[in-house]
Amino acid sequence: MQLPAGLRTPTTIVLGDRLERNLGSMAAFASDSGIALRPHAKTHKCAEIARRQVALGAVGISVATVGEAEALCRSSSDPDDVFIAYPLWPAPDLVVRLRALAERRRRDEAGDRDAVKVIVGVDSVKSAELLSPLAGVVGVSIEIDCGLRRTGVRPDDSVGLLGVARAIEKARLDLVGAFTFPGQSYAPDGQTAAAADEAAALLQATEILGSEGFAVLDDRFVRSGGSTPSARYSSPSALTEMRPGVYVFNDAQQVELGVATMDDVALVVAATVVSRPAPGRVVLDSGSKVLGPDRPAWVSGHGRLMDWPDARIVGLWEHHAVVSFDGVEERPPDLGEIVAVVPNHVCTAVNLVPELTVVNCAADGEAGDIVETWAVAAGGKNR
Ligand SMILES: Cc1ncc(COP(=O)(O)O)c(C=O)c1O
Repeated sequence: MQLPAGLRTPTTIVLGDRLERNLGSMAAFASDSGIALRPHAKTHKCAEIARRQVALGAVGISVATVGEAEALCRSSSDPDDVFIAYPLWPAPDLVVRLRALAERRRRDEAGDRDAVKVIVGVDSVKSAELLSPLAGVVGVSIEIDCGLRRTGVRPDDSVGLLGVARAIEKARLDLVGAFTFPGQSYAPDGQTAAAADEAAALLQATEILGSEGFAVLDDRFVRSGGSTPSARYSSPSALTEMRPGVYVFNDAQQVELGVATMDDVALVVAATVVSRPAPGRVVLDSGSKVLGPDRPAWVSGHGRLMDWPDARIVGLWEHHAVVSFDGVEERPPDLGEIVAVVPNHVCTAVNLVPELTVVNCAADGEAGDIVETWAVAAGGKNR
């Protein structure tokens, strides 16, 4: 891959053509499956990408925090429908901010105004009670645990599930759906089983709610699931909505899982070879402060090199990535050479930088042009 000349490193680069292809491909898959797409914006944190997703048919965006929603639903060209897919703890300051977000009037150049539709995740009676001042202002979705054992009510815990649903009803909040995250898809060969868990959990929870008279047969009741590894196995009879996020860029984890190929990776960190201390060992100026520290046990390194798929980052310090070329046939890069590094987990890598440099890579291997820079508007918005 020929990166643009004259780059200062490390620089986090979006490969624009590949991004467009990934966006279009997931949008087409969702549309063909009859499942609404509500991409998780915690991956890219960029208004420019959120707008593209909506233009391609997304019903809105998902986020993890109120701060992300505030940053990405700012102007009238931004998404106006946001799901905070997280069991927020509705502390008083967050209740104030949620109201302001939902009542945010946004003016565009033509002077039009609109408000933001806000949905909040809930998985406890107490949080439903605390959200009651927002009755008529935000919608809520009950989180179901489909096997990740993170947050959410177990779908077979009918007492717990109905308790949360009744608390929502008592608080006069609008129950708009149920959601789950099949994060167990992040395991070798775990994708189809995770999608099956997700479908079963959403259907079971819906049945329990329906049996007690909750309006789950209403067309507007959303059964929301989705992770990037399991997205293509989503069940259209169980899900009405999916929330993959990583698919926009992909990363070394997705490549390792076989969910994406190197050709599908649309974000790299340009890094310079600063040392070649031993044969088969190369050190880059991109450490954990730009690549992110994530390395699940099943991943074979701390990241990959786009043009040396068999090389592995075997050591990661704050400002050093040590790459092993053991057993790699191709010649390692020279001192001073700039290489494209694929982070393990793109969401944490994006969150570490203030902006993304967008490049269009020429298909013939010619050096790409820098097209623009996009602010990581929701970067660091952890609350
Ligand atoms: C609640 C929730 N929904 C959707 C996603 C998006 O999944 P992925 O990161 O696999 O694209 C995540 C990711 O962490 C999540 O936590």
